[in-house]
Amino acid sequence: MINFVGTTKIETERLILRRLELTDIESVYNHWLSDERVTDNRISPAHTNISESKERLDKIIRDYSNKEFCYWGMELKTINILIGEIDLYNFDYATDNCEVSYSIGFNWWNQGYGTEALQAVVDFAFRQMNVHKISAAHNVDNPASGKIMHKVGMKQEGVIRHMIRNAKNQYKDCAVWGFLQEDYYKG
Ligand SMILES: CC(C)(COP(=O)(O)OP(=O)(O)OC[C@H]1O[C@@H](n2cnc3c(N)ncnc32)[C@H](O)[C@@H]1OP(=O)(O)O)[C@@H](O)C(=O)NCCC(=O)NCCS
Repeated sequence: MINFVGTTKIETERLILRRLELTDIESVYNHWLSDERVTDNRISPAHTNISESKERLDKIIRDYSNKEFCYWGMELKTINILIGEIDLYNFDYATDNCEVSYSIGFNWWNQGYGTEALQAVVDFAFRQMNVHKISAAHNVDNPASGKIMHKVGMKQEGVIRHMIRNAKNQYKDCAVWGFLQEDYYKG
């Protein structure tokens, strides 16, 4: 059974993973939600108005009252800048499986933050929450996302053709990845 503990603060070498707050709105909008370079790799389109991001942020903050809600902002420890977000979602009570997704602002790509955050959330999900399996999918034309999954120990399980249709009406083939708790402990 999954042990839900809500969105608990997690510290890594360079990051603090913490709950998002209302005062984060400018960072959330400017750093990733309004930037097509980030959102083109996801399903929802880039926000063109900060009020869209505010609505999303309000909902996230409301959802923190639910112990089963796991949604972290990624803050750089030394300079307290919010650079991205990562969440566990789609918890399935029949299997104790879930999914992970993440976004980082373009200015902070390729500096190891994605790997560091994903590793911390994988550790948390398996050790603190007792999740059985973590899954994720990325567009095949977004290899950086697959790279970080590989680096934390996830295994690619296949490619699903036209798995999503993005905001620009383009179908995308997606690589699906998974990580079993038993494999995590085997190392
Ligand atoms: C995916 C994402 C979170 C990665 O974060 P990041 O902080 O840049 O990741 P890291 O720096 O830890 O690692 C990126 C790795 O991908 C590699 N990489 C980057 N671009 C690449 C490319 N075009 N082809 C192959 N590898 C690539 C980097 O070299 C690095 O690997 P290395 O450490 O072995 O050199 C970030 O790019 C992002 O937010 N993208 C937009 C949103 C998104 O794609 N979300 C996931 C949807 S599934």
